[in-house]
Amino acid sequence: MYKLIDGKAHSARIRGEIKARVEQYKKARGSDIGLAVVLVGSDPASQVYVRNKIRACEECGIKSFANYLPETARQKDVEELVKSLAEDENIHGILVQLPLPAHLDEKAILDLIPVEKDVDGFCEENIGRLCMNRDCLVACTPNGVMQMLKAEGTEIKGKNAVVIGRSNIVGKPMAMLLLNADATVTVCHSKTANLKEICRNADILVAAIGRAKFVTADMVKDGAVVVDVGINRNSDGKLCGDVDFDAVRDKCSYITPVPGGVGPMTITMLLYNTVCAAERS
Ligand code: GUN
Repeated sequence: MYKLIDGKAHSARIRGEIKARVEQYKKARGSDIGLAVVLVGSDPASQVYVRNKIRACEECGIKSFANYLPETARQKDVEELVKSLAEDENIHGILVQLPLPAHLDEKAILDLIPVEKDVDGFCEENIGRLCMNRDCLVACTPNGVMQMLKAEGTEIKGKNAVVIGRSNIVGKPMAMLLLNADATVTVCHSKTANLKEICRNADILVAAIGRAKFVTADMVKDGAVVVDVGINRNSDGKLCGDVDFDAVRDKCSYITPVPGGVGPMTITMLLYNTVCAAERS
């Protein structure tokens, strides 16, 4: 029998801890913790994500500064905004919602976020520190996965972990976190040969591909821990993950559902990173 990993319950527990730290910060310093969010354009999914991030800040007592720029914003406009947020001492974290409109140079914009305010954990310095297993701001989605695996008491040390997906935002930092926790890690991607056999050897399987029901029962080892990072919509518009949940679940020891698994943890870890950034300031 599998155990469902309940991302909402883990989130609620961690948000309680965050709230207490926010209150303590306010009492000790007599000022707020501030998170600036930058949204350029009107991508509907990004608008939903940004709205949810701002609401989550409010619930935890973090002051949010929403900055909306039109689709037509010039490189210079966005850069000037990020520079002013970088200098503002009331702001402890800066989040530029991705993807940016295609005409903008994403790297040049993200490079303007100071390492200590990079609450997404995307900058080269934070990724480098993560690779060297040093203190850093860790990318929110993979950090959320780790927090759930640890809280559930799943054994990571010495286990075979397979990550499907090699994005800078999820796959690569996920692999590093598992490696830092002493797993033996394989990263698979669209050019991987023998994907099924590699996955079948996984004690921990993390799916971050972005294709609905990509992971089927024949790819999963009996007793595996399966983590589904995917957020896809099927032809009926219903949310579904990268894992064929109904077919796979009975082979698992633990599995995350979609929705209600990894998703709620991503925003929680953003709040967590923002509090850490403020406490270190
Ligand atoms: N777009 C999709 N996921 C993310 C995320 O975690 N952070 C930012 N900034 N943009 C995203």
